[in-house]
Amino acid sequence: MDRFVIEGPTKLAGEVRCSGAKNAVLPLMAAALLSRGVSEIGNVPDLRDVRTFMRLLEILGARCHLEGGDLTIDTTAVTGVEAPYDLVKTMRASIYVLGPLLAYGGEARVSLPGGCAWGPRPVNLHLGGLERLGAKVQLEAGFIHTTAPDGGLQGGSFRFEPSSVGATCNVLMAATLAAGRTELSNCAIEPEVTQLGRALVAAGARIDGLGTPTLVIQGVGELDPIRHRVIPDRIEAGTFLCAAALTGGDVVVRDCVPAHLESALAALGDMGCLLDVGTDFVRLQAPERLRAVEIVTRPYPAFPTDMQAQFMAAACVAEGVSHLTETIYPDRFTHTAELRRLGAEIRLDGATATIVGVPVLEGAPVMATDLRASAALVLAGAAARGTTTVDRVYHIDRGYERIEAKLNALGARIRRENV
Ligand code: UD1
Repeated sequence: MDRFVIEGPTKLAGEVRCSGAKNAVLPLMAAALLSRGVSEIGNVPDLRDVRTFMRLLEILGARCHLEGGDLTIDTTAVTGVEAPYDLVKTMRASIYVLGPLLAYGGEARVSLPGGCAWGPRPVNLHLGGLERLGAKVQLEAGFIHTTAPDGGLQGGSFRFEPSSVGATCNVLMAATLAAGRTELSNCAIEPEVTQLGRALVAAGARIDGLGTPTLVIQGVGELDPIRHRVIPDRIEAGTFLCAAALTGGDVVVRDCVPAHLESALAALGDMGCLLDVGTDFVRLQAPERLRAVEIVTRPYPAFPTDMQAQFMAAACVAEGVSHLTETIYPDRFTHTAELRRLGAEIRLDGATATIVGVPVLEGAPVMATDLRASAALVLAGAAARGTTTVDRVYHIDRGYERIEAKLNALGARIRRENV
């Protein structure tokens, strides 16, 4: 198992490029199952979750190849219908195969995802939406077993409550091949959902309302394979900007879409950072000392839950008292105990963290508990005085491409050790 040994404090400076977005590539990979042939997806980050999804598609009979950011998925020989527990338990996004398998072949069996470090994480909206398209859903021995009626899925209407990225993607994919009209309301409007919709339209789907909470889909008989270039990872971009802020640095993040980062940029501005925002880059110059901040996580375009932990790390060294409220995953706070080990002063009261900024964090051994929490610990370690070791960095490898190499190129001192 790998761990990071981080020597701090460091002041990050220079330029870093964003990779393609993990949360955007996974639904696109699932969408390859909506047709037979070779899908081609560009700007694909080489991440553990991407490799896991490739394995899942291969179990279903696809042939996948990833090289230099280009991913091909040949679905010609796909006949499988089952996503096994071993994969689903390491990557919840495996549930994305449910809608496409059901819509194309009439049947899917996906191991029921369990809870996670952030709480229960139900999938009722994925299932409810598919049922509205006529699917029969049964829970059997830990599996979700769905079948389409004779003649295939039929259009229907469904409202997501609350708004859900995963359920919107899943039901949207299924609806593209369902006969007739489907109307989905209170859809997630995260950029990852919109780009999935665009890729589906390019493959022949008929979808109105992309980028808005109401999607109207007219089912088509068949789709072409997916051909799409993955959008830049807004969470990775935000993580690098946070790293610059936390370490008092001056960093340019290139190949990003600043429009996808508005709420995070606003928060960084509130913290006293100087921002130069271009069409595909953001330069951040940190102040002598960050100011406290008020953050509430909500669905896009509001502040993303996937950046909550990194901003908490920044708030730990800001002047004054910050408040951070989590409305998406009220239990997503496992990083607080680890940040306290570095000397942070954080009080948790339900889904709100109150952070009293300290002038400097002190290095210590900490443990990564999930993907974004690990990123927060790495950033805190880069800013902390002395040595920080972060155990269980496999979490971070799920969603960041060579994070230590990218941060080291900015002046961080992070060593990967195999223990
Ligand atoms: C996706 C992201 C994850 C991000 C999250 C919220 C991927 C692979 N993962 O996860 O990184 O943190 O969006 O932006 O893209 N809910 C239900 N029933 C459901 C589904 C969701 O009640 O069937 C609730 C959840 O408990 C949560 C809220 O809806 O409170 C939003 O979750 P959702 O958008 O579905 O998250 P994911 O798609 O799993």
